Amino acid sequence: MNSPQTETMQQVAALPRCDRTGAWIALKTHYDSHGRGLDLREAFTRQTDRFEALSVQAPEIFADLSKNLLDPETLRLLLDLARECGVEDRRDAMFDGQAINLTEGRAVLHTTLRAPRSQGAVSDDVHRVLDAMLAYAETVRDTAASGIRHVVNIGIGGSDLGPQMAVPALDACAHPGLSFHFVSNVDGHDIAPVLRRLDPRETLFVIASKTFTTQETMANAHAAKAWFDANGGTDTAKHFVATTTNVQAAAEFGIGTTFGFWDWVGGRYSLWSAIGLPIALAIGADNFRALLAGAHAMDRHFSEAPAARNLPLLLGLLDVWYRNFHGFTSRSVAPYHQGLKRLPAYLQQLEMESNGKRVDLDGEPLPFSTSPVVWGEPGTNGQHAYFQMLHQGSDVIPVEFILVKTPTHSLHDLHTKLLANGLAQSQALMRGKSTAEALNEKAPTASRDLDAAKLAKHRSFPGNRPSTTLILDRLTPRSLGALIALYEHRVFTSGALWGINSFDQWGVELGKALCADLLPRLGTGGDLEGLDASTAGLIQRLRSA
Ligand code: F6P
Repeated sequence: MNSPQTETMQQVAALPRCDRTGAWIALKTHYDSHGRGLDLREAFTRQTDRFEALSVQAPEIFADLSKNLLDPETLRLLLDLARECGVEDRRDAMFDGQAINLTEGRAVLHTTLRAPRSQGAVSDDVHRVLDAMLAYAETVRDTAASGIRHVVNIGIGGSDLGPQMAVPALDACAHPGLSFHFVSNVDGHDIAPVLRRLDPRETLFVIASKTFTTQETMANAHAAKAWFDANGGTDTAKHFVATTTNVQAAAEFGIGTTFGFWDWVGGRYSLWSAIGLPIALAIGADNFRALLAGAHAMDRHFSEAPAARNLPLLLGLLDVWYRNFHGFTSRSVAPYHQGLKRLPAYLQQLEMESNGKRVDLDGEPLPFSTSPVVWGEPGTNGQHAYFQMLHQGSDVIPVEFILVKTPTHSLHDLHTKLLANGLAQSQALMRGKSTAEALNEKAPTASRDLDAAKLAKHRSFPGNRPSTTLILDRLTPRSLGALIALYEHRVFTSGALWGINSFDQWGVELGKALCADLLPRLGTGGDLEGLDASTAGLIQRLRSA
């Protein structure tokens, strides 16, 4: 007899994939007849309450979806799609701790890491480690007593990107006496300049790795240890700490202080776990708890808000609408806050490692596209680099603007300019500029030798380019927690609609295995037998002797 868990999983696995629903067919018809030709400028004229109808207040985040290529009918059909695909059932299975990561037979419970203390062994374990980690962070933050001035996080992927994104984002509440360094790449050019500036007596190394086997992290950890020993470091127990599920491997490395976590925390969902230690060291225990509370508020919103007002669900649906009907291949994220400069990189792993899949839960090849490319830079820097392409390039790329109403500095003039820039870009993308408008404008820098009509064609913008604007009142631990959880659940939603496993990452394995095979071949006299001619030729050029 099947256990209730197995039965629920069977029910979830039996839920239809998006393309096998009536709503999908209806969306296709709707796209062909209306969706493809929707003009945002007309839509605003037609629907006077468009902004109110298409904006959503979620915990800590206000979202304006009105500059997106959808109308009430699109939305109705997308919500039908979510219902027919059982997104809410899939979501509940995740929150319940079902083994929804089918290929690894694991639950996906990062939401438990930010849930308040409750009954049960999992919650007890989570809060035991959290309490211990935060107590430890406070001892290090007492810099007069600890003597620590520099924290070096050594980790890669999910064991790097979360802390590396969150620490600068929360700089306003960071400990002024601690500097943070993030070493991830196996390229020695990453760690060498960091070590050059440090003193072992003032340095704490956090060796962060879920598996504690990752080549890059282990190589850097050994390099750090060798540097520590060679430069008069004496107290390894005080200066090295590990965050990992593999407590034994950390002990074998010689690390005494380890904060553990569990296999049901995916690497790219791990900043809420012990992997968040550098964040806790930077902002302290109370602020770290506020980060968790913000994420938990978004979890509740995702679980409880009706579908039509459920922000992660709506964003995930929009992603499918753009990817599978409009055929847009990428999405650009533009955080108008310098503290969020690493957010695009963080979101790349979150979205592309989760949803960059080509088979469904049964292993069958998908007849439609999945994860878009996610990319971006903070505003206004991106405006002076690639926004040209967003406005006048041949591809339509939906843009996500993230604006923060109140800064943590007092340079209000700069902040008003920043906000005006963000708003102007979303306005320009939508409005565009007709050739006639361009013709009537003065263009002092334009060539005087060129025919005016021809010049106007170069200076016109198609417009009707979609964007979403998210507004945070302030960038705080709580609002950052909510923002990251919003993205997690949005990625969950599109993955659930596509019927894929968003929680494995087999695509990274082949390169790792081939690297292990090539490593000995790179040495002098290494065997090139069986290699393709390109790889063999490249090895010969790269060999030191
Ligand atoms: O290679 C991909 C990956 O497994 C990511 O999913 C993960 O975040 C990263 O490597 C680091 O893994 P670990 O934390 O085990 O060192």
